Amino acid sequence: MRDHPLTTARLSLSPLGPGDRDAFVAYRRDPAVARLQSWTPDYGTAEADRLIAAQPDGPLPAPGGWLQLAVRDPATSALLGDVAVHTWDSQPDTYELGVTVAPARQRAGVGREAVRRVADWLFDDHGAHRLVALCDARNEAVARLLRASGFRHEGRNVAADFFKGEWTSLDTYALLADERGAGR
Ligand SMILES: CC(C)(COP(=O)(O)OP(=O)(O)OC[C@H]1O[C@@H](n2cnc3c(N)ncnc32)[C@H](O)[C@@H]1OP(=O)(O)O)[C@@H](O)C(=O)NCCC(=O)NCCS
Repeated sequence: MRDHPLTTARLSLSPLGPGDRDAFVAYRRDPAVARLQSWTPDYGTAEADRLIAAQPDGPLPAPGGWLQLAVRDPATSALLGDVAVHTWDSQPDTYELGVTVAPARQRAGVGREAVRRVADWLFDDHGAHRLVALCDARNEAVARLLRASGFRHEGRNVAADFFKGEWTSLDTYALLADERGAGR
């Protein structure tokens, strides 16, 4: 089975590489992109280099590890965003997803198309049982994206996460293999 690149009508996805670094750092430094994410707008090239060097050798990360899939325009190879895949080590066949789209490419369906493709890949090619996304409750864009992709809102941990100087609420979304269909 050949895993990467994953393709859609408009996108090509494969592990983040050295050629993506500058575009990746540029959108991670955007304050609006960083605001509800784990990094800050001073995100630097050294951090990006470490992340790129830490990409798994195989198609999927080992339990506990992360894979950063670059989302590219297949015609130009321009980096449009990324989808992060985290293999949980506490449950089998369970993967957490994160998604970012460069500001200039947002609101054009890129995030949704990329997440759906990655979800299909995990379910169809790797026998995933459950996909999970953990999001800041203020993040309306990702909530809409996940719901439109078939994810179910599982719950909210209220004022549970002390994040960037304030107590924030965390939403959990999930999609089971058995539930697929609604968002396809
Ligand atoms: C969340 C994010 C990935 C969405 O990517 P995108 O490519 O713009 O999303 P899409 O164009 O596929 O749109 C998906 C849905 O989100 C909605 N949406 C997109 N941006 C939005 C915004 N800024 N505000 C409200 N809704 C928004 C779209 O209208 C669409 O909803 P609909 O199907 O009901 O019309 C993007 O906004 C982003 O990178 N944000 C910063 C990083 C981040 O917070 N990531 C999530 C971490 S969990």
